[in-house]
Amino acid sequence: MYHIDIMTLFPDTVGDVLSESILGRAQERDYIRILTHQIRDYTKNKQKQVDDYPYGGGQGAILQADPLYQCWDHIRQERQCRPHTIYLSPCGKTFTQEDARRLAREYDHLILVCGHYEGIDQRFIDGYVDEEISLGDFVLTGGEIAAMAVADAVCRLIPGVLSHDACFEDESHWNGMLEYPQYSRPAQWHGMEVPKVLTCGDHKKVERWRRKQSILRTRDRRPDLYAQLDLSSKEDQKLLAEIRAEELLRPLPHPVYTVPATPELWASIPWPHTDAMPPHSYLLCHGPEPAACFSLEPLEAEDDLGIQDGKWSAPERSMLLTLHGQDPALLHTDLVDKLLDRAEELARQAGSPWLRMAVSKKDKELLAHMKAVNFQYRGNLEYQGARRVAYELRLK
Ligand SMILES: C[S@@+](CC[C@H](N)C(=O)[O-])C[C@H]1O[C@@H](n2cnc3c(N)ncnc32)[C@H](O)[C@@H]1O
Repeated sequence: MYHIDIMTLFPDTVGDVLSESILGRAQERDYIRILTHQIRDYTKNKQKQVDDYPYGGGQGAILQADPLYQCWDHIRQERQCRPHTIYLSPCGKTFTQEDARRLAREYDHLILVCGHYEGIDQRFIDGYVDEEISLGDFVLTGGEIAAMAVADAVCRLIPGVLSHDACFEDESHWNGMLEYPQYSRPAQWHGMEVPKVLTCGDHKKVERWRRKQSILRTRDRRPDLYAQLDLSSKEDQKLLAEIRAEELLRPLPHPVYTVPATPELWASIPWPHTDAMPPHSYLLCHGPEPAACFSLEPLEAEDDLGIQDGKWSAPERSMLLTLHGQDPALLHTDLVDKLLDRAEELARQAGSPWLRMAVSKKDKELLAHMKAVNFQYRGNLEYQGARRVAYELRLK
């Protein structure tokens, strides 16, 4: 049985809260025992006064060392051991799920000390406290809420307290990530729907969706945790590529159109792009500004561009699309989608059955995007002085 003794000026309140629901049932079934102790009962004065003004002056009073020690010593003698003693304090180390796991694993008996007023006499801390734990960078009136939080977080990890371990292994912070969003019945509520994937009955798809949501939440809400994550597995890399591709979809603010490039227009493009204008080049503009520049050149049927580890589907005439630059301010928009639409249109107008592409290996965003659209991977090639990846799309 895991044992927690809580030293406090409000034993009834703390005891009541920790006897409810899951922790209450776990106590009835003897998986855990949480007892509270009134610090006032250990004073030697009639008024049961436990606080006094701090030496050196200052705001308010602090809890005196002796009643704290007498209470602590009583617990120690009753338990016939020296329990690991924690003082809840804003000066402590911030409590994490890892601490909860450590406390559940390494001890079977804790004493939690709740301060009040302006804190407690340092000599009790120096003499009898093993560690100080803070709930976060804020100040509470007393240590009770922090002690209840620590007791709750530790107790639910004790075997038997929750129905099965997956209950907590699936949760936020267990594997350094935040939990995915959850939904329950009804499927439609206040005009909002449950994500379709959760009702499809395909367990694998559900797991994949949840992992993706966890990655997204952790990235957006807790960049500190995200930076520590290992997402190098093949599955996670696929999810990241999917996320990147989906995030390209922020709509551009203006309609887009293409104009054939001229050397003057090419020279006036304000963002980095291929220096010399290749033949058959176009500008994709949105509003009055150029958003991207690309070339669309006719390839002869037999021209395979020297693809090294693959080949085009069929030796037929085609149009070769190459992106020569894009406005970096328009990353994470649907610019690439729009550009592919325009290129398809131009290739169709030229009567070509294939649109082929040579994507620079450096253009990670475009490469991730190609996985999400209908273009097929065809191999690697060296083209116009750069290592590229060949893709093609059959135009119906
Ligand atoms: C008003 S606080 C004392 C604050 C103290 N004077 C200071 O500035 O560090 C009173 C009691 O609340 C508890 N407490 C306050 N903030 C806490 C936090 N962030 N985490 C854990 N316990 C806290 C401690 O037990 C503390 O003794």
